[in-house]
Amino acid sequence: MAGDDMIRFGVIGAVGRGSSFVRTLRAHPDADLVAMCDIQEDVLAERAAEVEVELTFTDAEAMVDSGEIDAVIVGTPMPLHVPQSIMALERDLHVLSEVPAAVSIEEARDLVLAAKASSGSYMMAENYCYMRPNVIVREIVRAGLFGDVYFGEGEYVHELKALNETTTWRRKWQTGINGNTYPTHSLGPCLQWFEGQRVTSLMCSGSGHHYRDPRGDEYQLEDSVLVLCRLSGGGLIKLRLDMISDRPHNMTYYSLQGTDGCYEAARGLGDEPKIWLRDTNPDEMVWQPLEELAERFLPAHWLNPPEEALQAGHGGGDYWELQDFINAISNGSEPPIGIHHAMDMSLPGLASQKSIAEGGTWVAVPDSRLW
Ligand SMILES: NC(=O)c1ccc[n+]([C@@H]2O[C@H](COP(=O)([O-])OP(=O)(O)OC[C@H]3O[C@@H](n4cnc5c(N)ncnc54)[C@H](O)[C@@H]3O)[C@@H](O)[C@H]2O)c1
Repeated sequence: MAGDDMIRFGVIGAVGRGSSFVRTLRAHPDADLVAMCDIQEDVLAERAAEVEVELTFTDAEAMVDSGEIDAVIVGTPMPLHVPQSIMALERDLHVLSEVPAAVSIEEARDLVLAAKASSGSYMMAENYCYMRPNVIVREIVRAGLFGDVYFGEGEYVHELKALNETTTWRRKWQTGINGNTYPTHSLGPCLQWFEGQRVTSLMCSGSGHHYRDPRGDEYQLEDSVLVLCRLSGGGLIKLRLDMISDRPHNMTYYSLQGTDGCYEAARGLGDEPKIWLRDTNPDEMVWQPLEELAERFLPAHWLNPPEEALQAGHGGGDYWELQDFINAISNGSEPPIGIHHAMDMSLPGLASQKSIAEGGTWVAVPDSRLW
């Protein structure tokens, strides 16, 4: 059980995605996992016994009302992120919510208002922002070596037709709606490379329908969906989402172009993340492995990661995001992916649904800072 100065965590959806955070919480010096909640009662009891957590709940409201926790991790299906986050924020608990932050612009607004009214901190668990290559690129951008950045790409290509059938909420919320229904993994890291900017308008179009689900129904989501995002600083980001096409995965393709450098993530089969910077190759525009710049740009804690980070999922991203959330609570600082950054990464996906429904018209993306 946690001591007095520990941040006491409860995880909702503890048997699904929420379980990814258990190991880090158990090993953390400033936090502990004291409660687990999931509607799958039997599996929950088993998992809680394995990790020696005494408090279990099948009702999230009972957990947030228990008085036993200071913070929650919301690892439940997409439509539950906002109601469960608001429930916790209203009780002044800290919230780390899975992605995306919301499934409609209306509920996103409710979430922003709840976060502003709460003394609890809100962070969105956008773990791809914490993947090693993405962090190296971010640090190089911050050092100014890309010059003016003006074009970026993010692709989330993850064939999940079978997963749709086992985690059935996906069939409705990810492949049952047209537009970019899962934008944050591709947009999040890119936006961090355009620091201080947000998507102001976008247009979205798709490649049509070439597959059917096991019942013979067409997916409402088109096979490949592209979004062109215009940024507040004038730059352009292109997003691709494909959850349907038969093909190997590539969930982590990104590129970045600036006046003094460019970057391309690995495409597979021996390819590796590569970069050209005028700073390191002033006379010749040739690729260099990104990893060669790791020592120069990565923060020290990234160069010597603890065992828990090496064991954590998504290239350590699941560890580092939780670490940042705990640090922000401990220091009383704004989490790095706080409510407005969460909106900057989530709202374009929701606006893209309007654009594609209107035949690919340019639509405005709301600015949550005005709410
Ligand atoms: N960041 C990432 O890399 C990443 C990876 C996978 C999933 N996700 C996100 O995590 C969320 C969950 O995805 P998943 O693949 O684990 O789905 P899942 O269906 O496998 O798991 C969700 C869990 O929530 C539980 N649950 C459902 N309703 C509940 C309720 N009302 N109260 C308590 N528990 C409830 C389910 O029993 C299940 O154990 C989704 O929003 C998804 O987008 C993020």
